[in-house]
Amino acid sequence: MSNPDMAEPITPPAGHVAEEAADDSVAPVATVGETDPAPAADSHPVKIRSRNVDVFYGDKQALFDLGIDIRARMVTALIGPSGCGKSTYIRCLNRMNDTIEIARVSGLIELDGQDIYSPDIDVVELRARVGIVFQKPNPFPKSIFENVAYGPRIHGLAAGKTDLEEIVVTSLTRAGLFEEVKDRLEDPGTGLSGGQQQRLCIARAIAVSPEVILMDEPCSALDPIATARVEELIDDLRKNYTIVIVTHSMQQAARVSQRTAMFHLGYLVEEGQTDAIFTNPTDKRTRDYITGRYG
Ligand SMILES: Nc1ncnc2c1ncn2[C@@H]1O[C@H](COP(=O)(O)OP(=O)(O)O)[C@@H](O)[C@H]1O
Ligand SMILES: [Mg+2]
Repeated sequence: MSNPDMAEPITPPAGHVAEEAADDSVAPVATVGETDPAPAADSHPVKIRSRNVDVFYGDKQALFDLGIDIRARMVTALIGPSGCGKSTYIRCLNRMNDTIEIARVSGLIELDGQDIYSPDIDVVELRARVGIVFQKPNPFPKSIFENVAYGPRIHGLAAGKTDLEEIVVTSLTRAGLFEEVKDRLEDPGTGLSGGQQQRLCIARAIAVSPEVILMDEPCSALDPIATARVEELIDDLRKNYTIVIVTHSMQQAARVSQRTAMFHLGYLVEEGQTDAIFTNPTDKRTRDYITGRYG
């Protein structure tokens, strides 16, 4: 069933730069015989700067005076017991909390030095720059191809059909899914396995050339093999994207992240290089949490 498929793409927002996502390759951080395998944070500029962030749901406060720098092209893991504000914080970063009627956010959050809550921010464009992947894979009830093509089409990122196809193939390839689905791009995305669906959602996020990818427990609905696949992918993606991942798995945080931020009861307890946080946490609450005393 061919459909004429809405010929003209929507005009791109003025000044929108779609290209240049990839490949101004990361500074060479690894040196032979180094004692510290984790890249120094200082070699990665601050991508997202948060200061004095408070979030309320109605009159209940969920985040208190949060301040944290998220470094470019690194994976930052957010850890901490349930209900401590990890999802709330991550949703501040692409203004998803705007969609929650009773949520109120105050304080400063800057993306590349620009206040994302300023009135002249185009929220749709912001959400293309800062993509999000949720716990439960949520492909659209459309074909695999359309799941990935949708974003670039509505953002006007493709000049024509060939261009759009190229974006779809590249995004699926980057998400490590193309080989598995290349012969059935017209099949429904919802027919894929859970792990494949999650990689499809990652491809969908990648397709609009984001700078930041937020992941809220992206593996908690996946089996160990699918989880390993997504973790490999995350490690691969950090060359090109800034990644913030919420995880309940200490092992996962240790495996995929270079920085870790520990949350507790709406406060940021500490943030630092992942191996330091895990081997030598400065705060008792972090120590208790990573040794399984609560959570
Ligand atoms: N949509 C919402 N409406 C009201 N309260 C919420 C909402 N989302 C989260 N909260 C509350 O905010 C606090 C932090 O929740 P959340 O950010 O989901 O924590 P985490 O992701 O660390 O488990 C909790 O007390 C939770 O009940
Ligand atoms: Mg959560």
